Amino acid sequence: MNIGVFDSGLGGLTIVKTMLQNLEDADIVYIADTKNAPYGEKSLKQIIDFSIKITDYLIDTYAMEVLVVACNTATSAAIEHLRHRYSNLLIVGTEPGLKPAISQSVAKKVGILATPATLNGAKYINLRNQLAQEYDVEVFEQACPGLVQQIESGTLDSPKTISMLHGWLSWMKEAGVDTIVLGCTHYPLVAKVIKEVMGREVNLIETSMPITKRVKELSGIKMGQNSNNNLEIYATGDINQKMVDIILGHKKEVKYISLS
Ligand code: DGL
Repeated sequence: MNIGVFDSGLGGLTIVKTMLQNLEDADIVYIADTKNAPYGEKSLKQIIDFSIKITDYLIDTYAMEVLVVACNTATSAAIEHLRHRYSNLLIVGTEPGLKPAISQSVAKKVGILATPATLNGAKYINLRNQLAQEYDVEVFEQACPGLVQQIESGTLDSPKTISMLHGWLSWMKEAGVDTIVLGCTHYPLVAKVIKEVMGREVNLIETSMPITKRVKELSGIKMGQNSNNNLEIYATGDINQKMVDIILGHKKEVKYISLS
């Protein structure tokens, strides 16, 4: 089974890493669309166009059978279009982990960090309203423009990144939020800093494991630790090679591709 995975940059590698650790015999091709990053500040039409271009490339070049949209923003903007356009393709999207967060919060106060585009998505807004009411939970929603760029440049715990996070998290901290949804696949890369800024025990919710299990269900690929997986990484623009190696925990050369 050939699995294609894409994101605007490094973030989707947080999902690839979990897939590599838990699947057996998977052939994964990852596209980091760094030429067009960040997606979160682009229009819906632009994000749909980027997603279609990448999907066409993965089908034509790698005979991809399963597509993982490893990006909350692209999932929100484009997944309906992709499912309609590629009806034979198995497609797995990435959505903020609202249900686990809202159902697990003891304080009944949940923070949600995501890109502006994700927080404006109709499906997200409906689910958030429905769950917040059902579980009687207060939701603290926060867009984090600029955080993806900090992560792409590898400045995970620079004074600037810490000060941005302080600005976004202070109202959650004061209100006693105990659970925070990492609603962008880049954000697990600053999980440690988020915990430090919150200054106390906080449950961070990310979705790489549910996505890996969904890939397994759809593809029939087995779960297992003795993996014989293969990974190729391509970027459409500049990428921080050092960050790729840090995320994966080993050296992995990124090749450049141009998607015309
Ligand atoms: N990792 C993407 C997401 O999950 C990135 C967003 C961006 O490029 O702004 O939303």
